[in-house]
Amino acid sequence: MIRRIPTTIDDFRERARRRLPRFLYDYYAGGSGRERTLAANATDWDTVRLRQRVLVDVDAIDTATQMAGEDCTMPLALAPIGLGGMAARRGEIQALAAAEQAGVPFTLSTVGICGLDELAEAAERPFWFQLYMIRDREIVDTVIDRAWAAGCRTVVFTVDLPMPGPRHRDTRNGMAVPGARAKFLKIGQVLSRPRWLWAVPLRGGPMSLGTMNPHVPAASDPDSFRRWIDTQFDPTVTWSDIDWLRAKWKGRLLLKGILDTEDAERAVAAGVDGIVVSNHGGRQLDGVASTAIKLAEIVRTVDSRAEVLVDGGIRGGIDVYRALALGASGVLIGRAWIWALAGGGRAGLDQTLAGIRDELRLAMALTGVKRIADIGPDCLDSKG
Ligand SMILES: Cc1cc2nc3c(=O)[nH]c(=O)nc-3n(C[C@H](O)[C@H](O)[C@H](O)COP(=O)(O)O)c2cc1C
Repeated sequence: MIRRIPTTIDDFRERARRRLPRFLYDYYAGGSGRERTLAANATDWDTVRLRQRVLVDVDAIDTATQMAGEDCTMPLALAPIGLGGMAARRGEIQALAAAEQAGVPFTLSTVGICGLDELAEAAERPFWFQLYMIRDREIVDTVIDRAWAAGCRTVVFTVDLPMPGPRHRDTRNGMAVPGARAKFLKIGQVLSRPRWLWAVPLRGGPMSLGTMNPHVPAASDPDSFRRWIDTQFDPTVTWSDIDWLRAKWKGRLLLKGILDTEDAERAVAAGVDGIVVSNHGGRQLDGVASTAIKLAEIVRTVDSRAEVLVDGGIRGGIDVYRALALGASGVLIGRAWIWALAGGGRAGLDQTLAGIRDELRLAMALTGVKRIADIGPDCLDSKG
């Protein structure tokens, strides 16, 4: 059989589906509840129509910009993905290298497979660190200091996970379920993917939570990890904790998981440098609006007092353009980088990041804008 050349993120997703054990593919792909918000995140970008413009000299298009004060070749960063390192051998290290080569930021999750120290060793420019609030504040204190020592200058503090949303795919596959039956189910799924088994857990270990290892009992065992999350992720976090974090962290602070104008207003008042409009990729409350729908009114509320980034359902350069036209200054991609890496390895991720930039450049050419700063509401077709 002659395989076709993977070209879009959906092509890479299909390859990833064939390569990853079922529980892992579903863990990355899935959302909460009936996955309505997950679906809307992707499809609602399609409702944002652009104005085709002609006879503008678009020879010298520049996609470069700044995000969180850093120079980037395009307004895009890789989102934090818990257990992202299981998508490929030492996955976060490969993704970091691809992001650096493409000239965009990589964000390491608190619960990444590779830890702060491993990334610091591999990094050539500062990467971003995503933080969850843990009940034991001493742990948080230590982790923040470790992030600074690892060279991170931007912390992405995630606020939309006071408790994990119900992910039914994980339950069905035995991912978040204790006991022997679930274990056998997962073993069967792993054995049906020998190539992944060899490349990732066997040759690419350890499969533990790099950053949290010193703090989590038995971090390499998913069942105890899940129990630890249930007991240690802190549902009591409030705005006073943001004040504490703001005072503590000397670098840039982005709040991720803002979906409401009142919360955006409070975030600005708390002195954060930016927010990420996000519903956690449709993995928390099924039934909330897509980020594409919420973005414009949040941008209006923030009114340039902080940077506004957005994520959820971004699958190409045209979606990046749409987000900018609605007022964001940049986007994060989550599943897109996972699919590219799992389905095509490092080369797949390089290709995907270059492809997103090419598509963004093309959208700029066909809408007649040359610089990122020139993309705005004027580029939208209100009658579309
Ligand atoms: C498998 C998976 C794990 C995630 N883990 C984290 C995490 O550890 N921390 C975090 O802030 N967000 C996490 N997110 C949310 C992403 O950072 C991002 O908000 C989301 O994936 C964006 O939607 P997209 O996947 O459609 O691009 C995760 C998302 C997925 C799909």
